[in-house]
Amino acid sequence: MVGIFGCVLKDGNAAPVIYSALKRLEYRGYDSAGEATTHKNKLFVKKDKGRIDEIHTRHDLNDLPGRIGIGHVRWATHGAPLRENAHPHIDCNKQIAVVHNGIIENFTELKKELEDLGHIFKSKTDTEVIPHLIEENIKKGLPFIEATRETINRLEGSYAIAVVYVKEPDKIVCVQKESSLTIGVAENAAYPASDIPTFLPLTKRAVAVENQEFAIVSDGKYEIRKITDWSLVPREPKLIKWVPEKAEKLGYRHFMLKEIHDQPSSIHNTLRLQDQYLELMTAFLARTKEVFLVACGTSYHACLAASYMLSRLAFLSTHPVAASEFIEQQGRSISIDSTILAVSQSGETTDTLAAVEHARLHAATILGLTNAIGSTLTRVSRVYICPQSGPEVGVAATKTFTSQLCVLAQLALRLAKQRGKVSHTEMEWLEEKMDQIPDAVETIIQTQEEKIEQIARKYRDTEFFLFSGRGISLATALEGTLKLLETNYIPSMTFPAGEKEHGPIRLVEQGFPVVFICPRDETHKKIVNDIREMKDRGAPIIAIIEEGDEEIKALADDYIEIVKGMPEILSPILCVIPLQLFAYYMAVERELDPDRPRHLTKAVTVK
Ligand code: F6R
Repeated sequence: MVGIFGCVLKDGNAAPVIYSALKRLEYRGYDSAGEATTHKNKLFVKKDKGRIDEIHTRHDLNDLPGRIGIGHVRWATHGAPLRENAHPHIDCNKQIAVVHNGIIENFTELKKELEDLGHIFKSKTDTEVIPHLIEENIKKGLPFIEATRETINRLEGSYAIAVVYVKEPDKIVCVQKESSLTIGVAENAAYPASDIPTFLPLTKRAVAVENQEFAIVSDGKYEIRKITDWSLVPREPKLIKWVPEKAEKLGYRHFMLKEIHDQPSSIHNTLRLQDQYLELMTAFLARTKEVFLVACGTSYHACLAASYMLSRLAFLSTHPVAASEFIEQQGRSISIDSTILAVSQSGETTDTLAAVEHARLHAATILGLTNAIGSTLTRVSRVYICPQSGPEVGVAATKTFTSQLCVLAQLALRLAKQRGKVSHTEMEWLEEKMDQIPDAVETIIQTQEEKIEQIARKYRDTEFFLFSGRGISLATALEGTLKLLETNYIPSMTFPAGEKEHGPIRLVEQGFPVVFICPRDETHKKIVNDIREMKDRGAPIIAIIEEGDEEIKALADDYIEIVKGMPEILSPILCVIPLQLFAYYMAVERELDPDRPRHLTKAVTVK
């Protein structure tokens, strides 16, 4: 996944246009890239792993003939970042080329079916089934467009796809299902792309291809049809007024805000992870004697939440450990009987890798959960899972945290099922609730964002914050604190609400707000009492509550509501959204740049 671009020119050479467009997609982060053009009944493909400029130096990306072509920058989700896994992917006869952003969920079955028919696959990607399916349909006598349409009917998942075919060299065929696609329309050219900024220097007129739509793009022209009934969709281009700096953030002021808003879709994609990866990792967790959940920063908070999920659902006791402490705390006890589940957005954090290396030398089993296929963590893990959150640009982790939580919750659910720890009815309920998370996150953003902005305005000059929660919400509170600390440099502290009498209560006084995380779980009654106690000492209370929680509404000075009725183990995924937005708007209010916090880098690769 990551970004696609297409170029149909009336005259001229498409390759240099595609190359410059791919450079404009660079900011999204990627590990490989490629282009394909059609010319005189032939397909020309150049692709490789690495940065665009490196690939250009090796292959000259301007040097492909033809006025029509497609390009792609890839962030590996299926198959390592290698040349053969880079897009475009082609069919057996080298006549069809495809670029794709998204996931084909049923690619394993489709690949098997196509291999049985004699198709040769060159990559480990899900995308490669598409050109082979189109090839198969053309072999059956279908014209190109029909063959593509027939192919789409076989695909499950989400995708933005662009296809070229040497025998119909005047067009690019595109399809959109739950993955953004827009066509830039110029006088004598058209540019289908997953991101508007990719074509913005070429044209400011754009037409959106919406969910479940098909687009046939030729020079300066396009035809949009509904996939379902093939009806024509009349849609005029609109003028895009974005300035370039804003454009790469898709109209958002900062990457952090864009990535917070990405979460309904990144979670949706993560929940569609291939069963086989989850099954395999569950099998390792099921048979091990002891599990250490190891990570730093935000990823550590995901581990802490996971320890509650695994214990409460699957009755598996685990040890969440900050990676920087792992060797000191647990080093001597690690053995062949230990399993380390290392969680890292980047897959390159030095402390996490050091913990993993120590465990490896002691014959432990290493499992990895990382956003970066091809990272060191994926190379040293026996099994790894890559949540489908896509690259994260903002230094403060947001969408990768909620995606990590989704994977960890899925693992807990599977393990619970395997161990017979939850009833059939409860399992169905949990799965149903899990499917509702993307919509619930969307609702929170839609209904609460403005209010959160106002709350941030009210507390902008606050000098000290406390965060608190009980049970799994402690992990959420820790993450809320970290987000505020790293983007605002405001001294903040988290304490488990039950620990208040053992010290933290001394800090509570007028003017120091306490942020309470209060989903309606088994801890609710106690949290109400905790709030009362803090309130009695004059602390302003900001509460994250479920809709309609009148009891806490009456106590809190400010409250933010999340969708009600979510199971306790999923509540951090929802409760953290207001905290991310709060940290973001506090930074904006305080005129700080949330994308570039001082002294912080995206991957901490120093000790
Ligand atoms: C917080 C943040 C850091 C990282 C930490 C671990 O927003 O970004 O705390 O979570 O440095 O990084 P990864 O997950 O890449 O190992």
